[in-house]
Amino acid sequence: MVERFTEEMIRKKLLSRGEEQDRLFASAREKREERFPAREVEVRSVIEISNVCRQTCLYCGMNRRSKRKRYTITRDDLLAIVSNIYSKGRRVLLLQSGENDSRKYVDFISSCVEAVKHQFPDLAVILCMGNLKHAQYRQLRDSGADRYILKFETSNPALYKKIKPGDSLQQRVDCLNDLLELRYQVGTGNMIGLPDQTLQDIVNDLSFMMNFKLTMMSSTVFIPGEDSGYRGEPAGDVDTVLNFMALMRIMNPGLLIPATSSLEKGRRGGQYEGLAAGANAVTVHDGTPPELKQHFPIYSAKRFTPDEDHIREIVSRAELKFAQNGVVRTAL
Ligand code: 5AD
Repeated sequence: MVERFTEEMIRKKLLSRGEEQDRLFASAREKREERFPAREVEVRSVIEISNVCRQTCLYCGMNRRSKRKRYTITRDDLLAIVSNIYSKGRRVLLLQSGENDSRKYVDFISSCVEAVKHQFPDLAVILCMGNLKHAQYRQLRDSGADRYILKFETSNPALYKKIKPGDSLQQRVDCLNDLLELRYQVGTGNMIGLPDQTLQDIVNDLSFMMNFKLTMMSSTVFIPGEDSGYRGEPAGDVDTVLNFMALMRIMNPGLLIPATSSLEKGRRGGQYEGLAAGANAVTVHDGTPPELKQHFPIYSAKRFTPDEDHIREIVSRAELKFAQNGVVRTAL
């Protein structure tokens, strides 16, 4: 049974701490275990394929205005990396990059996806590369991409415009609808703790997400990156994010919800707490070559990039296990 909460109840649960919070997490875990009785966690390998970006997001350290070295991994290097992570048993690949809608770049990604799917047909490919045109999403889908992550970041249109001056919430929503229409499995999510974001904005984020037919949902702790327009601002509150994650799970028991590395950056042990709050997906940073990582400071050059040992430890501590063949299946 999917629970419905009033706005007042959601506000109260977002602020819960101590025993009340423990109870919230326990009911989120219960919902997860009902739908995922094998207690499996999806493990994704991320490859940050390019940091070229046309956007000017205030929260991001690799936006167009930042003076950083730009790179794009070659197709041959990508295939070598994929072959390596595949041999380690990974079956879910997350290809992430800045937003670049040039024809050349989309053709390039499309040829990469095609080559990856040709060599590794049972590898699920998730793309996370921002707003593109409908025809480009179609091209990538036709090349074999299975899923797409496009976060709405905040459901407050004025705040959205402020943090992403080159974009609008409406354009983002149009892109999400394009992706759904093209039958991608779609993920979206928000950031919590953005400057000027209110508790009501966060409550609204939760109902906003319920408007889409999603496969994946996420929430990250806002991290003030040292190279971003928000350097020096306070970071988001980890407990509010954990409570938000628990609510996402209770309201959407069958979805894939990641425990993101921003939780660990926000607080030591935070990523484990994400699993305890009902998450069932984690991302391992074993794809991007170490010498390129510093050039992909989504939220901070000093960000925490979990390796496999860390992930194995928190997954077993949460009494969960790596999914067999990588992809998590629901009971229904
Ligand atoms: N703090 C937290 N999350 C961030 N992201 C990007 N920058 C930050 C930040 N400073 C998240 C956004 C984006 C995804 C790729 O990473 O949700 O969509």
